[in-house]
Amino acid sequence: MELTFATGNILTYNADTIVLNLFEGVADPGGATGSADGATDGAIRRLIAGGDFTGKLNQTAILYPTQGLSASRVILVGLGQSDAFSLDRARQAAGSAARVARDLGAEHLASIVHGGGEGGLDYEKAVTALVEGTGLALYRFTAYRTKPSDDKELVRFTVVELDENRKEEAERGAAVGRAIVAGVTLARDLGNTPGNDLTPVALAERLSDMAAETGLSCEVWDEKRLEKEGMRTILAVGKGSANPPRFIILEHQGDGADSPVAFIGKGITFDTGGISLKPTENMWDMKFDMGGAAAVAGAMRAVAELKPKQRVLAVIAAAENMPGSRALKPGDIIRSMLGKTIEIRSTDAEGRLVLADAVAWMARQNPIAAIDLATLTGACVTALGNSASGLFSNNDELVAGLEAAGERTGETVWHMPILEAHRDQIKGDYADIKNTGGRPGGACTAAAFIEEFVGDMRWAHLDIAGTAWTDKSRPYVSKGGTGVGVRLLLDWLQNRT
Ligand code: BES
Ligand code: MN
Ligand code: ZN
Repeated sequence: MELTFATGNILTYNADTIVLNLFEGVADPGGATGSADGATDGAIRRLIAGGDFTGKLNQTAILYPTQGLSASRVILVGLGQSDAFSLDRARQAAGSAARVARDLGAEHLASIVHGGGEGGLDYEKAVTALVEGTGLALYRFTAYRTKPSDDKELVRFTVVELDENRKEEAERGAAVGRAIVAGVTLARDLGNTPGNDLTPVALAERLSDMAAETGLSCEVWDEKRLEKEGMRTILAVGKGSANPPRFIILEHQGDGADSPVAFIGKGITFDTGGISLKPTENMWDMKFDMGGAAAVAGAMRAVAELKPKQRVLAVIAAAENMPGSRALKPGDIIRSMLGKTIEIRSTDAEGRLVLADAVAWMARQNPIAAIDLATLTGACVTALGNSASGLFSNNDELVAGLEAAGERTGETVWHMPILEAHRDQIKGDYADIKNTGGRPGGACTAAAFIEEFVGDMRWAHLDIAGTAWTDKSRPYVSKGGTGVGVRLLLDWLQNRT
């Protein structure tokens, strides 16, 4: 789909379908919706008066006016109460309208900017939200369909703005929106791709292609290099599989050689549990155990397009966790890159293992701050459910920054503790530490494990086990991989002080 911007009056704009909006409880609409009502002899006011449309958030109504508009079809979308309006509500409303338009077979959709009027949202951000909500709502994963589908697709989406003077702001906002959509789309595609096609090697190839196309630098370390660097925790997890592990380094140079901001992703391309084999039920879900890697890759794709001055360094620790004859076993003791010894209690606690060396490697690069993302624990899903990611950190500023980014993006994070008791739980019996601390506080003990490897680096850990995948479609999130983390990281990066 092509995303464009145009200056002009939406009433006379040439698209087959246009989107107008209404706040809840408004009987006599103003702005573009008011003008359209006037031009159509009160068609919108009649719809409201008849009780068919109240303006509730994400509610939609369709009109086929016979006069006054160039478009043959109008989609009216509810924005909810005006005093509760937000960027996230703008994204949702945009997404709801776009899905209705697509299902109706619209080809060219044009929309006004939701909340872009006087006293509304920051205009540039409102344009971003509109493009973002639309692009993300229309996402579909079709790579494996062989039958020619009769699914309808929008060909073009245009943001229409009446005020000439807002052109520059609008184009900037739309460009940010486009970059976000591209990044989240990549993350969702990676999350949805099955384990047989997305092995660590395949992931590395896809990302080095992406890097070459977008101007990032990319380095991929194979098992020989991992051996040489002493990254034995990543090798240990990958040992049981015929598909070898990879360490993928992506970098955006920015203004130069200053300290980078760092992202680290857990990239388990499939998690069987290893010798501590998972039960059969729902094991297929574990193809998304590279959700952290997907988020990091998506964020870097957007960074490549938005070209911030800040240098950004990202790594992905990719491995397949399988129960092969060479696999890691419970009771084994391995030595991490830093020299710390780790006793394996469960080979299913593999995410924290690959992160141990990845995080330690990153600490050596002296980043300003590092954020790791991982589908790390079922315990985090139990604690927080599917609408918030667990946030752990050794730095209050980082916590505040990520919480604020979570609020702005709708990718909610919830600050969780690492207590002395959690650190005690992972003390080793036969080695320095062990890789599980038992059931109590499972998300916290996993974070305490990673903390063992961060040194004095400013660090935050996001457990996205509950948020990287969804079985329920939302206004701008479809079933499957959600791409969670991409928008959070970008927003945090853009608003960092
Ligand atoms: N990838 C899983 C965590 C997970 C579970 C992600 C459910 C998404 C949904 C992780 O590798 C894992 O298996 N964790 C274990 C840790 C335990 C063995 C200490 C878990 O959560 O059960
Ligand atoms: Mn596991
Ligand atoms: Zn896992």
